[in-house]
Amino acid sequence: MALDINNLEGNHLKVFATIEKEYLSRYPSGLRTAYAIQTPDLIGKEVSLSGWVSRLRDLGGVIFVILRDRTGEVQLTIDEKRNPDLFKLASKLSEEDVILARGKVARRPEENVNPKIPTGNVEILLEDLRVLARSEPLPYQKHQDVSEFLRLKYSYLELRTPRMVRNLTFRSLFTNSVRKFLISKGFLEVETPMLIRSTPEGARDFLVPSRLNPGKFYALPQSPQLLKQILMIGGIDKYFQIARCLRDEDLRADRQPEFTQIDIEMSFVRENDILSLVEEMFQTVFGELLGIQLKLPFPRITYHQAITQWGTDKPDIRYPYKLIDLTDIFRESEFKVLRSIVERGGEVIAFKLPVKLSRKRVDDLIQESIKSGITSHGFLTLELSDGKLKGKVAKFVSKERILDLASLSEGETLFIVGGERARELADSLKRFLVKKLDIQPESDFYFLWVVEFPIFKLGEDGRLEPHHHPFSMPYEEDVELIDSDPLNVRGYVYDLVLNGHEIGSGSLRITDPELQLKILEKIGYPREVSYKRFGFLLNAMKYGAPPHGGIALGLDRILAIILGESSIREVIAFPKTQGGICPLTDAPSEVETWQLDELGIALKG
Ligand code: AMO
Repeated sequence: MALDINNLEGNHLKVFATIEKEYLSRYPSGLRTAYAIQTPDLIGKEVSLSGWVSRLRDLGGVIFVILRDRTGEVQLTIDEKRNPDLFKLASKLSEEDVILARGKVARRPEENVNPKIPTGNVEILLEDLRVLARSEPLPYQKHQDVSEFLRLKYSYLELRTPRMVRNLTFRSLFTNSVRKFLISKGFLEVETPMLIRSTPEGARDFLVPSRLNPGKFYALPQSPQLLKQILMIGGIDKYFQIARCLRDEDLRADRQPEFTQIDIEMSFVRENDILSLVEEMFQTVFGELLGIQLKLPFPRITYHQAITQWGTDKPDIRYPYKLIDLTDIFRESEFKVLRSIVERGGEVIAFKLPVKLSRKRVDDLIQESIKSGITSHGFLTLELSDGKLKGKVAKFVSKERILDLASLSEGETLFIVGGERARELADSLKRFLVKKLDIQPESDFYFLWVVEFPIFKLGEDGRLEPHHHPFSMPYEEDVELIDSDPLNVRGYVYDLVLNGHEIGSGSLRITDPELQLKILEKIGYPREVSYKRFGFLLNAMKYGAPPHGGIALGLDRILAIILGESSIREVIAFPKTQGGICPLTDAPSEVETWQLDELGIALKG
């Protein structure tokens, strides 16, 4: 069952709403004695509320002003007969005016109760009204579907929407809960600098020119990776930071140039200690904020299993349909297209889904998958109907072998793709189909560890690159393969996957400077270059480096998944557009010539 985050009543986020409510009632503030959400508990009492005019309804003789604050909306009722002056004032209100309202909380007559909203059983009989600020007519209608650029340009209006209030409130409660947990486990929160040396970690650095050191640049941290390792060498033992990270990379729905990590590092630990700590952290936070009891330990699979069984290093096992290898079947078949793929060294891979589709629906899906770039030639299907195998390739394959390999039953369809990267393709196609066919996941949240990542991978130019970053520790028994068979060197390197998204990544670290130099050499840094770039780390390792390791969890991604948002932009207060722009402040912007002069910088062209 999918989580209905918009319905606060009767689901997990109800627990979160309760926490919010309790917190606010302990701390009423300034120009109010209560928040909207508290009014049902205050029937018969006088309250002062402040907020924005969300909507106005003039019924002739009675005006309803819907007041909105951070906690929700509540109806103010103004009767012309009871209070003509107040009625006059209210009739001049506009949407988004800021008001202070005083009145008595009353139970609504039965026929006016709105069970859909938490304050739907009460109204405030208004006794006093002040306008604290006026609003001009809005640049767009509230429920209008406007471009993202416009939403971000007027981000203060966007922040007023219940959805953004909910997302940012949840974000605050989440980091608070994480902090409490880690501190209770003996971790120290340490801030690492934002102006650091450029030590690229995979993405491009954002550079900052130094006025005091002309011609030199700081870099903004891609992550606190090296500094947290040095904190361990410095004896901090258990470190965490809710760390801002900056990477100049191409943006996607799950990537922002600025994002936040829950960054953790521990000394004198084994891999399992780190994984268990993170599991307990999620169990505690999910229990506290969502009322969900996560089962521990989270399942663990190796990188190799992930790729062969699921076609990806971030499988979405909420849909438990493993890949099925049909290569041998098609190697011998008369179906030329797939047979020639196999002859050229490709694979034929299939997966089942619990659906039965008409011929027409299959053809439409094939076209859509080609149009959206998921497949280049579509896919094939097989199904069992009245005991017979049906589908374009049915006559080319043995029913018994298919049933044996795929244990296909009536009501299921087998989807088949072939090619050089058939497993990867099958995973993308499966993700596309479950969405298109609205196949419900078997659980809300599926956490999975993928462990034993290789230390190296081949880059696009055919050269060795670190699979994660070059500071991860190889398995002791694989160290001898570094020269002879580098792609098969496994590491104490792990990712945490939630619902098919990578939400965290970490490793045990190298502490021997010679091994570190060797790994760096393999990825193309000669010793002298390594010393120039990473000398501070290599030197620190010479003075007593304890065994250590850690992880960084992508906070924005975790929140987006929990809150059911399709992009991390929805859980960030002032995100950048896909083009890296902040439409509110118009950043990045040109700067004055004198500012460049001070920095000794001249622009080209
Ligand atoms: P890594 O680069 O894998 O590891 O990052 C850790 C997690 O951070 C999140 N993430 C992002 N979120 C939003 N926008 C981005 N541009 C972005 N890039 C990464 C992901 C990812 O899993 N120092 C290492 C960790 C370690 O080894 O301890 C690191 O930064 O969820």
